[in-house]
Formats: sequence, C-alpha cells, structure tokens
Amino acid sequence: MNVLVTGGAGYIGSHTVRALLAQGHQVTVLDNLSRGHRDAVPQQVRLIIEDIHHIDKVRRILETAHIDAVMHFAAHSQVGESMENPTIYYDNNVVGSYCLLEAVRQAGVKYMVFSSTAAVYGEPEKTPITEDMPYCPTNVYGQTKLMIENMLAQFSRAYGLKYVALRYFNAAGAAADGSIGEDHTPETHLIPLILQTALGLRKSIKIFGTDYPTPDGTCIRDYIHVTDLADAHCRVLSYLAQGGVSQYFNLGSQHGFSVRDMIETAKQVTGRDFLVEEAPRRAGDPAVLVAASGKIREITGWQPIRSSVETIIADAWNWHSHHRSGYDVSQ
Ligand code: UFG
Repeated sequence: MNVLVTGGAGYIGSHTVRALLAQGHQVTVLDNLSRGHRDAVPQQVRLIIEDIHHIDKVRRILETAHIDAVMHFAAHSQVGESMENPTIYYDNNVVGSYCLLEAVRQAGVKYMVFSSTAAVYGEPEKTPITEDMPYCPTNVYGQTKLMIENMLAQFSRAYGLKYVALRYFNAAGAAADGSIGEDHTPETHLIPLILQTALGLRKSIKIFGTDYPTPDGTCIRDYIHVTDLADAHCRVLSYLAQGGVSQYFNLGSQHGFSVRDMIETAKQVTGRDFLVEEAPRRAGDPAVLVAASGKIREITGWQPIRSSVETIIADAWNWHSHHRSGYDVSQ
C-alpha cells in the first residue's frame, strides 16, 4: 500500500516507518519537524516538511502520491505541557487532526490508523483496563486524543472512512539495532530520565510519590516496546485492508512495573549505580495503569515480543549511551 505517515520523524512514527518498509509498503512521511528529527527518517523515504493544518496542500500530497492509508502520529504528547498550555494542544492535536481528516475525506483515502493513548481513560476504576471502560481523561492531552477519536468515529459513520485507534500505554525502548530511539525536549519520561542519570547527564532520578496504594508505594505502569507498537500498526493496516471494522484497541504488555522496579532493573541492565531521590507526587498521575490487550491479540494475532522490561531498558540503553544528545550530533 501507499502509506502517508504524519509525525513520521517522531518517536513512535519513525519506528513504524521502518516496520512498514520491512513489510514492503511505500511510505511517505509528512512532518513539520517542530518536534520530530530529520535523521529519524530513513534516506530512501520521501520526507515532506508540511503542516497538517494546510488542508489543500495535504489533499494534493495525498492525491499525487495515491495514498491508500494515513497513519497519524503528528501531535503534541506531553501531559504536563498540555495542562500549562492547553491552546497549543487544541490547535495542534484537535484542529490539526480535523484539517488532516478533511484532506483525507476530500482525497478519498480509505484507511486511517490513529495514535491514541491510555490517557483517554484517566483514573481507572479497576485494572487491567479494557477498551469498554469509561473515558474520563484527567488531562488536556488525553482529552484532545479522545476528541480526535470521536471525530474519526463521526467521519467514519458519515463518509465511510475505515479506521483503527490504538491506545498506547507507556511506549518505551528503541530500535534493536540502535539506529533510532527516544529524543524529546524537554524529556519527562521515566526510562530516558533514569538512563540519562546512569550516564551522568543528570544528578539524580526523582521518584514522584512513594505513598501510592501499591506494594512499594510508587506508581505502576505498563511499558510496551516501541517496536511492538510499530508491529501493531502494520497488523491493523492489514486488518482494515481485509475488511475489518473500525474500532479501538489497547496496546500494552498486560504487566505492571513500579517506578522502583524500573530503577532497579536499569541498575542491573546498565551495571551502573546512581542517585535516587524521593520526591512529592506529580499532579495527575494515576496509581496504576495496566492494559488488558486481549482484543488486539485475538483479532490481529499481535503479540508483544520485545516488551520485557529488561529488553526495553537494554534497547533504550543502547540508544542513549550511543546518542547522549539524542539526534543532535553537534554536542
Ligand atoms: N516518574 C518518576 N520520575 C520521573 C519521571 C516519571 O517517578 O522523573 C514516574 C511518573 O510519576 C509515573 C511513571 O514514572 O508514575 C511513568 O511516567 P512517564 O512520564 O514516563 O509516563 P506517564 O505514565 O506519565 O505517561 C505516559 C505517556 C503519556 C500517556 C500515558 C498513558 O507519556 O503520553 O503514558 O499511560 F498518556
């Protein structure tokens, strides 16, 4: 298929571009490079530096490249930033996605795969989280992703677009060959921060909250390897092409690990000791987020294969230790 990947220069998008190429798809990346990295896009892939807000330009790109499917990753994704500056999240995520959807509609693209998040569930009533549980996002980021899911459902009903929304839990890790990985500015995610501390780039790693109702008092999350996420995107594309109905799938490993577990595993994997400090809770963090991901396993045969926390941390360590400044080679 001819696939356009928006945000293909970003973290999850760039890993998915590689998975699509490996499956023989023709890939075009559309990215405004506001947060993505040119070097994350393989040389043989056409990178179009454009913004999803430009309906006419995007429609022409879709038509000229005879795009069959759009994978939509282009979005801001920092929870804290979304609370401090909601306007950029509504503009970039909601308005941008509306414009993209309108271009998709006008160009008659058949399929769309959307990068959604576990943040649509907010603070869950029980765990593991199944797809039919209530949606109560507790932050602007999750709210914008939920609004986009709703737009997709409405465009699908009215105009026949077929789509899948993938709700990621905690994306982590890097390509097994170390060629691409995670590089956010500012970095707020646990694993990169732990590994930057192990590298001596940060003084300490802070544990945000040690009084949660969990066995060791720290938050529990479901970490899923980015290459397993990429594989899921390829599988749902085949699912749609074979006539699968539009729907949502959780993407997680179904196993929860605490912040302390992750720090201990990182010490073992890296062979380094580093300073760990206890700090107050971070606002808006649910105690436990673990996915039930039986639905996508059953329907598409997807299975996470690199999502043990040891493999996730080893792959991330390989990336961070060889790219101490991420994609920026000038430092
Ligand atoms: N944490 C620390 N210290 C740090 C950074 C994080 O203790 O320096 C803790 C957090 O409090 C949380 C856990 O580590 O308990 C994981 O935090 P991350 O920031 O890595 O990830 P989140 O669980 O907050 O969020 C991630 C994605 C969101 C997505 C969410 C859905 O970043 O985009 O998962 O599960 F919405």
